[in-house]
Amino acid sequence: MWEKATSVSKMSLKLLSFFLCTLTAPNLTGKIGEDTWLPAPQNISMLSTNMKHFLTWNPVIFQGETVRYSVEFQGEYERDYGNESWIPTWECSLITATVCNLTEDISAPVPYNLRVRAHVGLRRSEWGILKGFFNPLTTSLTPPLMKVIADGYHLLVELEDMGPAFQFCVLYWKKGQESRMQQKVVKEVRSVVHLDIMEPGADYCVKAQTYVEVINRSSSFSQTQCVRTQGGRSMGLVTILILAAGFAVAALTLPFLTWKTSKIFQYSCCPIAVIPDTLKISEPPSHLILCGSEEAEQCDLMVPVMPSEEVLQLWIQETL
Ligand SMILES: *[C@@H]1O[C@H](CO)[C@@H](O)[C@H](O)[C@H]1NC(C)=O
Ligand SMILES: *[C@@H]1O[C@H](CO)[C@@H](O)[C@H](O)[C@H]1NC(C)=O
Ligand SMILES: *[C@@H]1O[C@H](CO)[C@@H](O)[C@H](O)[C@H]1NC(C)=O
Ligand SMILES: *[C@@H]1O[C@H](CO)[C@@H](O)[C@H](O)[C@H]1NC(C)=O
Repeated sequence: MWEKATSVSKMSLKLLSFFLCTLTAPNLTGKIGEDTWLPAPQNISMLSTNMKHFLTWNPVIFQGETVRYSVEFQGEYERDYGNESWIPTWECSLITATVCNLTEDISAPVPYNLRVRAHVGLRRSEWGILKGFFNPLTTSLTPPLMKVIADGYHLLVELEDMGPAFQFCVLYWKKGQESRMQQKVVKEVRSVVHLDIMEPGADYCVKAQTYVEVINRSSSFSQTQCVRTQGGRSMGLVTILILAAGFAVAALTLPFLTWKTSKIFQYSCCPIAVIPDTLKISEPPSHLILCGSEEAEQCDLMVPVMPSEEVLQLWIQETL
């Protein structure tokens, strides 16, 4: 009895393993089955500079298929009051890139959790999770790019536009008088900021740092740049001369351009307006009316257009 029972169970085990083998065989030979394991993205890290946040991860290689990725995040609110729910990012949903720009999503200075998973067709991997939190407070701030300009007696600085979150603290001083350093806070990003009126023949120095209010943090200062007042009066004279020359050129070329443009317009389409009634008798009007119709492209070729001087001469002759 016992022997029979064990042999039956052995049989059924063999059958079962056979079935299992045939079921799993395609996977072993490299074909894609529904239950083939898709690895989760690895080495997930956050790169954050100047309040621009990018999540990166290593690409998942999967049997030569196109792998897509989806990113989700969880802020303090979702963690504490939202049942630990995760928010999908619409920018990084089924993307093929291995980097996600999270600048728009990560707005509050609180700790965030981030996760990413891979997709191939309908198959989804486990979530790969960023180790620890990411807090935008930890973004690395770089000193602003700036250009110091001496325009006559005016000390100007041109600052890089780093986005609306950025303010600038600009320090400037007359060289040798570092103790009398002055400060200007630039809140609106404009192309050029006026700092001071300079004394003639003196060097002035400028350095600047960025400040981001939402995280209450500043970058380090940029390298100091110094300029010297150019001999004020002669500089003014040169500027006036250049301006005058520019004005003269413009004054000369503008009428010529206007004349040329009007000429071009005359020769192209619809000269009908220029032609006085007296001429319409000698010219069949249908010929001229062609202009402005569907065949406008052929206008230049088909219509014998007279230069306005000739028309005028003719008109004068006829009326006299
Ligand atoms: C992990 O990611 C970082 C940043 O993208 C990269 O520099 C590094 O080479 C990656 N490490 C490995 C082991 O792939
Ligand atoms: C959290 O989960 C509980 C029970 O699962 C549910 O009653 C509640 O509405 C959920 N709250 C939120 C904010 O989703
Ligand atoms: C990232 O997103 C921000 C906000 O939408 C945008 O200003 C920035 O240009 C983006 N950066 C890149 C490299 O796409
Ligand atoms: C910003 O940080 C400074 C210290 O770096 C601190 O003294 C100041 O109170 C902070 N301001 C705000 C508004 O949190």
